[in-house]
Amino acid sequence: MYNMSICTIKFSTNILQPRMVVARLSCRLKNGSVGIGHCTKVPRNANMEKLQHGYLFPEIERHEVMHLEKYPHANIIDLGIGDTTEPLPTIVTTSMVDFVHGLSTRKGYKGYGPEQGEKALRKEITDVFYKDLGIKPTEVFVSDGAQCDITRLQLLMGPNLKIAVQDPSFPAYIDSSVIIGRAGEFVDKAGKYKNIEYMKCGPQTNFFPDLSTTSRPDIIFFCSPNNPTGHAATRKQLEQLVDFAKVNGSIIIFDSAYSAYITDDSPKSIFEIPGAREVAIEVSSFSKFAGFTGVRLGWTVIPEELLYSNGFPVVHDFNRIVCTCFNGASNIAQAGGLACLSSKGFRAVKSLAAYYMENARILVNALGSLGLTVYGGKNAPYVWVHFPGSKSWNVFAEILEKTHMITVPGSGFGPGGEEYIRISAFGPRQSIIEASQRLKHLLYQEDN
Ligand SMILES: Cc1ncc(COP(=O)(O)O)c(C=O)c1O
Repeated sequence: MYNMSICTIKFSTNILQPRMVVARLSCRLKNGSVGIGHCTKVPRNANMEKLQHGYLFPEIERHEVMHLEKYPHANIIDLGIGDTTEPLPTIVTTSMVDFVHGLSTRKGYKGYGPEQGEKALRKEITDVFYKDLGIKPTEVFVSDGAQCDITRLQLLMGPNLKIAVQDPSFPAYIDSSVIIGRAGEFVDKAGKYKNIEYMKCGPQTNFFPDLSTTSRPDIIFFCSPNNPTGHAATRKQLEQLVDFAKVNGSIIIFDSAYSAYITDDSPKSIFEIPGAREVAIEVSSFSKFAGFTGVRLGWTVIPEELLYSNGFPVVHDFNRIVCTCFNGASNIAQAGGLACLSSKGFRAVKSLAAYYMENARILVNALGSLGLTVYGGKNAPYVWVHFPGSKSWNVFAEILEKTHMITVPGSGFGPGGEEYIRISAFGPRQSIIEASQRLKHLLYQEDN
């Protein structure tokens, strides 16, 4: 929204069209950015106008850039965004290289593939991730990543629905709901949008919502292991969630992007829960499981039994969305994905996950030794640290200023993240050790 009090409008006469006056705007927007150029007559999408600030992670990057301007020689350790850093196993890259070479031969060239993904990969996904869970390859849609699928699912469901999200949660669920037009106004004081049900998931309730006080949503976004808290929902919790969805006639969109990091017996898929096929969709990703954040590959599962209120199968509509709005994942990425799911490839990518989880252990130990309350780090490579009574953006700023470390302020994941910061365990081991030492130094100094 333009803040007109600080908006300056300059008019310049266009010499070729003397009677036409071209308005040139130099407007400071409410969020601080500046629009300079020619104003069309196209109004801004009112839903985009509702979005608060920038998307969280570019916002964090902005702080990093400002910090580097202030301290050009700072050795920054970035444990913020949660990007993978370890090189891909050669078995995976070799398969992509071979595929690419094939593309320059008549025999190996391939153009468009099936919009839903290569048959072999859809089958491997069901065999590896959904063994004995009754998922058919035709219910699996290969994609260019979970985040893109979340948006395609929003498009599928349309604007007029009520959604519920864990609070705190991965910001894409709320932001894409706002963009599609499901949110009311943002209430600054509460840090929440109207018409979105924020289901508080803090340590008091073992990071699970109090469903007895949750009003009926159409769609429930649920992420396990959760980003940012690192909590993997227990079987009992997920049974309650599936029951709740069934009773309320809701659909769960279950994000299992971090399931490869589960080390205990928590379910890795919502489809481990009886009855979930009738109420749930699952989105997942090769990003964190196999280091494909840049390669881009993911998938969504929509069971045939999942029906709209009029009895129409959701899977048919999603197929239509995928064919109309997507056209299929890169065949090079799919070749890499297939290699990840071979037995040798799977072992290799599993060892990447083990590496990041050892990082998480180091961070948890370092922070725990300072007497801080630390969650996560056991079933997900995120460490969720409590700073009682502090604003999370202030903690983020102080850590950046004094240790040159990037973390993420918990409130960026929703009001339930206030007083927390998230530290990512994705990073080279040396950086994790160095980060632990810097934090110990900072926090020890502050205590004494
Ligand atoms: C919970 C969650 N879901 C989805 C994504 C995005 O995954 P992708 O890289 O497959 O788009 C992320 C990325 O950090 C995430 O944390």
